[in-house]
Amino acid sequence: MNTWLRCRTLAFTLGLMAAMPIVIHRVAAQEPLRLVSPDGRNEVTAEIRGGRLYYSLQRDGRAVVEPSRLGFVFRGEPPLGEGLQVVGTATNTVDQTWRQPWGEVEEVRDHHNELRISLTEETAPGRQLVVVFRAFNDGVGFRYELPEQPEIGDFEITEELTEFAMADDARAWWIPAFQMNRYEYLYRASPLSTLDTVHTPLTLEFRDGLHVVIHEANLVDYAGMTLIGGPEQNRTLRAYLAPWNDGVKVRGRTPFVTPWRTIQLADRAVDLAPSVLGLNLNPPSALDDVSWIRPMKYVGIWWGMHIGTMTWSSGPRHGATTENTRRYIDFAAENGFGGVLVEGWNIGWDGNWIENADLFSFTQPYPDYDLQALAAYARERDVGLIGHNETSMGIANYERQLEDAFKLYNELGIHAVKTGYVGDETAEGHAHHGQYMVRHWRKVVEAAARYGIMLNVHEPIKDTGERRTYPHMMTREGSRGQEYNAWAGDGGNPPEHETILFFTRMLAGPMDFTPGVFDILIESQTGAPRNPQQSRIRTTVAKQLALYVVLYSPLQMAADLPANYDNQPAFQFIRDVAVDWEDTRVLEGKIGDYVVVARRERDGDDWYLGAITDEEARTFEIPLWFLPQGRDYVAEIYADGAGAHWRDNPFPVDISSRPVDARSHLTLQLAPGGGQAIRIRPAN
Ligand code: NOJ
Ligand code: CA
Repeated sequence: MNTWLRCRTLAFTLGLMAAMPIVIHRVAAQEPLRLVSPDGRNEVTAEIRGGRLYYSLQRDGRAVVEPSRLGFVFRGEPPLGEGLQVVGTATNTVDQTWRQPWGEVEEVRDHHNELRISLTEETAPGRQLVVVFRAFNDGVGFRYELPEQPEIGDFEITEELTEFAMADDARAWWIPAFQMNRYEYLYRASPLSTLDTVHTPLTLEFRDGLHVVIHEANLVDYAGMTLIGGPEQNRTLRAYLAPWNDGVKVRGRTPFVTPWRTIQLADRAVDLAPSVLGLNLNPPSALDDVSWIRPMKYVGIWWGMHIGTMTWSSGPRHGATTENTRRYIDFAAENGFGGVLVEGWNIGWDGNWIENADLFSFTQPYPDYDLQALAAYARERDVGLIGHNETSMGIANYERQLEDAFKLYNELGIHAVKTGYVGDETAEGHAHHGQYMVRHWRKVVEAAARYGIMLNVHEPIKDTGERRTYPHMMTREGSRGQEYNAWAGDGGNPPEHETILFFTRMLAGPMDFTPGVFDILIESQTGAPRNPQQSRIRTTVAKQLALYVVLYSPLQMAADLPANYDNQPAFQFIRDVAVDWEDTRVLEGKIGDYVVVARRERDGDDWYLGAITDEEARTFEIPLWFLPQGRDYVAEIYADGAGAHWRDNPFPVDISSRPVDARSHLTLQLAPGGGQAIRIRPAN
């Protein structure tokens, strides 16, 4: 048995629950190095072949990733990845459980084995590189470290050589990268050998049923990673980093660490979520006091602009008026919602706002919006205003005002801000999710921490687990949300959309999808009913309710106009549903077809169940085994009514209740494009 395996066995024998001391090994021969996950199923092998460093990954002895290259290309230097030798290794084991202040689950176990490999170039300039692997039961992560060294000080990376040579031409669920609308595309499924350039998380279904997700964690001062494939590369995906305007990918100075590259593994789709691999690879909270951070439901002056009954800009249909906002605050207070988002409150929206990058003020309201009075009115009613900062990618303009703006909001008791970055690159031509923007977002997150502001980022960089370190980084968009259903001409999101999001985008983290639109045909305010090809929502009302449980977000919007909730019994579910969870169980799921998920509310005894389907009607038999034994509950059921169909009969909802306990089964009948939402509360 090699030293590493012996050390691991010892750790298990002793049943150690804390970090093991790091064990350093001197390396004599250049033999393959192995690292195994605590359950022994996942094994990483790293080896030098012809001076190049390769890693591979196996699960239960079957290849998942075949030998894949590691390394970098620096501007004006030879690539770092040739003529390498291993000069040392160190191993470590960690088994600890930590708590999330909010989340899909309260407790997260971080149980992994680590292998650090120190390398140097055999010949001049003799640069040093460290590669660290961590093997968990739910996947592996690895990152590069560039130690401080005379051979590398300031550097510019022009390419990261990381490869993912997948062992199967798996079915990939992907969205294209480097397109106008950032991450806002419909997912498509195709063999991975046919991919061009795609975003992560990239979910792969192997033909033997294994599910593999490639993503990254702890993106702090680096470029966002996309994956580039293509037929000529067959099943090998390569890291492709979003660039600065001069083509450089990453600027840095040693000592330096990269984000983690992660490969999540699950035997079945239902085992993919909730995904904690990335959270375990982020540093613990940097905030001492998190008491001001509160998950909540909110409403907003927002949907009206998307369906065209209100405007962001000044004028007769200006949405963000004092009077209108008071009405929304009253509505939030009456229904127990914590926040009111107001868009279009600030100077800068007139004309084509998408081009107003330098015109936005983040402190000056339009004259018909009395910011001070409204903030006070909201505070008195225990409702928080949610500020809105659309930048249109005018980063310099925003950064100039950031400190003053957040200070003002803090003084007014505004503890949440939605930011927006419509545009595909900055005014200076830096990529939307390159290092320049990663640094910008960090500045905003840090400023928000100083001023006690929770963030909801639209047009964000993808989530890489920042919420562990900064738990006020609540939620973000970064996918096609509900708004796409409002815009005429696009056709909106197909009924399968959210059943794909659950197993792709949502594995990265919470999404501000903005569910809960009841006026599905978008006709109450805009005139005539529409035909199915026009903008409308391809859903039933019950499915809109189920999305509150299925698509996790600690800030969860009731997106429709308040008037559309009047006299709607189904609205009770939106009033009741929790936004913070102790536990999450994915009961049924198939990517692109259906999801059934149950979640237990944090600090309470209620369970909520959400089920959604694509365009097919489906029936599920759901045993309630997850309820505690011996306790009586009542299930309050919001089901698709008789004859419901997303296309021509989306409105019927059957509301019923029945006693249940851990031995009960529920039969869930979902209409085409439909869903079901259930509150399970203790009886008495
Ligand atoms: C796009 C965002 O997704 C949407 O929510 C917002 O209303 C507009 N940008 C304006 O900022
Ligand atoms: Ca958007």
